[in-house]
Parts: sequence; structure tokens; C-alpha cells
Amino acid sequence: MLLQLIRPMKQNKHTRLWNPGPTEVSERILISQSKPMIGHRESTFTDLYKGIIDKLNRFFEITNYHTYVHTASGSIWMDISARNLVRDKALSTTCGSFSERMYQTIGSCGKTVDKMAVEWGKATKPEQILDALSKDKYDAFTVVHNETSTGVRNPTVEIGKQVKKEYPDIMYIIDAVSSLGGDFILPEKNQADLIFASTQKAFALPPGLSMAFISPEAFEKAKTLPGRGQYTDLVALLEYYGKKNQTPSTPAISLLYSLDIQLDAMLAEGHNNIAKRHEDMAKYTRSWVEKHGMKMFAEKGYESITVSIVENTLGKSVADLNKELRKRKLTISNGYSQLKEKTFRIGHMGSWTVSELKELLWHIEEIWQL
Ligand SMILES: Cc1ncc(COP(=O)(O)O)c(C=O)c1O
Repeated sequence: MLLQLIRPMKQNKHTRLWNPGPTEVSERILISQSKPMIGHRESTFTDLYKGIIDKLNRFFEITNYHTYVHTASGSIWMDISARNLVRDKALSTTCGSFSERMYQTIGSCGKTVDKMAVEWGKATKPEQILDALSKDKYDAFTVVHNETSTGVRNPTVEIGKQVKKEYPDIMYIIDAVSSLGGDFILPEKNQADLIFASTQKAFALPPGLSMAFISPEAFEKAKTLPGRGQYTDLVALLEYYGKKNQTPSTPAISLLYSLDIQLDAMLAEGHNNIAKRHEDMAKYTRSWVEKHGMKMFAEKGYESITVSIVENTLGKSVADLNKELRKRKLTISNGYSQLKEKTFRIGHMGSWTVSELKELLWHIEEIWQL
């Protein structure tokens, strides 16, 4: 059984994912999930879960925030943010599909929210947020760090510096789903009150888990808000962990096994080295794009380092390219939503290296005869 699982991978029979999530998952990780089940109220589980939180805290240099790993993909934290951190009115900055989803989620949780839209492809700047916040009374604002639909990497550290200085009590919520763990981004350095990520992105793990880092101020604020739900009650989640080092409901234990061993690998490689590896892949892709007369979709200076979104200036069919790539057991992503065929996306996140990226780009060159 195990051999059947290993063999196709060794022969590279499966299609290797250069998508911006789910990303390629190693054989070692897949096998790590097949350990026997344990009860989630047993000390073996407590050791596993607390160990994971401790490793995350070490990896992300957490000194004073709360850390939580939830059994749900990253979008759950949009609901949690809306229900626990927005009392009166939120400002949602949007610059693509995923930041738009955050805006929609806050509204659908019954909270009042204004949108501050930035043109797709452009970055969200601190002065734009300061200006928007000065026009009304808000108690939360949201920013996506790495907009996976446009490839824009927003300057969240600078936003934190400038906006939290002016408005220290306004909750700063960051969606870092497709960058945390693969970028230089550190939760406390961003001054975020809640920042979240999914495991199927830069963590190179199967989908199904997400994590968030929460400021003490956010935890205190959540305690004062009604209607936090059950699975989305931040106070219940953090208090349960605080008392028992466990989760209130049954978690995806098999996925936690894989997160645990992946964190060992990430700690061994080091936060900065991982981010540098991603930056190297992004730089290589950008120079390849330029060399072949194409263009990055993101504003210069604000390009993502985990996913490169390339304008389809050559006017070739991205769908056909992917068909050919799949014959070679490789895949990239078409443009997202309205950017389909207008762009293509190379997700160089997770465990990929520059030399593997060169191989992928060589195949694209060959197929497109560049
Ligand atoms: C920036 C961003 N935010 C949110 C999401 C949604 O995350 P999930 O699919 O883990 O719920 C994604 C998924 O691609 C994303 O890229």
C-alpha cells in the first residue's frame, strides 16, 4: 500500500503543481499523514498540538501574540475577523479577487463595511488607507498582503507603521494566505491584530488547515463582541487552548502530523533562507519574463515573491499551454477570474527551488517556441 503511494511519485508520474495553491506536496509529507489516529483529548494530542504552536511561534518569532491552528482553509479567518473584530464599521481595502472576498465576507456576517478599491495590479499604499480612515469612524481595516489574483505584494509593514501610529485602536487584519511562510513577513513586525495563512500555500502541505496570529488587543476586543458564532468564536478557541492546549472541536489530526514535520524542516532551513529562496525564484521569473518580451501584471516594486503573474502580452492561449504542460506532468495556473487568458500565474511557493523553476520555464519556452 505504502509502496503504491511512493512509486508514482518517484517516477514523477503525477502532475507537479506550479499553482499558487494547492502547491506541490512531498512524498515524505504525504506519508507522514498515515500514522495511526490518536484521541484529541489525550496527552499525545496535547503534545502534538502544543508542539506545533511552539514551533510556529519560534519560526515566526512570536513573543506576545496568540497563535492558533484551525481545521478549515484560510477563508475561515475572514469570518472570524468579521465576527470578532468588527463592532461598528470596517474599512476593507481591495485590489483583486481575494481582498474582494474579505470585503464580501464582512458584509455577509451582517457587519457594516466600506470598500476602498485600488485598481487591479496596483498596490495599496499607507497614505490611501490613512486618507480613507480619516473620512469616517472605523474600528477595523483589512489588507491582503499577497493578492494571489494580481500578484501584488502590499507594503503591510509600512501600512502597520503609519496607520497603527495614527489609529492604534483600529484593528488591523491581514490576509497573508499565499505569502506567510514563504515571504519575509513576520506577524508582530506588521503590527497586525490578526494575520492568517493556509497550509496549502507556502507551507507546501495538503489543504485543510489554517493558522492565525492574534494580538492581545484583538483577543480583548473579541471578548466584548456578541454574535461570534461557535466554530468562529475567537475567544472560545484561544481560551480552550490557554486552558488545555487543545482545540474545542475535533481537529484534522492527520493534517497536523504533516504540519508538525513540515515545521521541523522549515525551522531547519530558517525563515530568512526560505524567504530568500522564494525571492530568488521571483527574481528569476521576472528576468525571464522581461527577456521574452512579456510583462509582470503587478506594479513595479510591489511584485509578489511567492507567485508571479505575467501579462499575456504574446497573446498565446494559456489553456493550450497548460494542456501541453500537463502532457509533461507539469501545470501552472491561468489568470484568475477576469484575468483569465489575460495573464498566467506561476506559483513558485513551498518547496520549489530555482533550478526546478528553470526546468519549468524551459518547457514553457519549448512549447511556445520562445
Ligand atoms: C490571498 C488569498 N486569500 C484567501 C484565499 C482563500 O484561502 P483558502 O482557499 O485557504 O480558504 C486565497 C486562496 O487562494 C488567497 O490566495
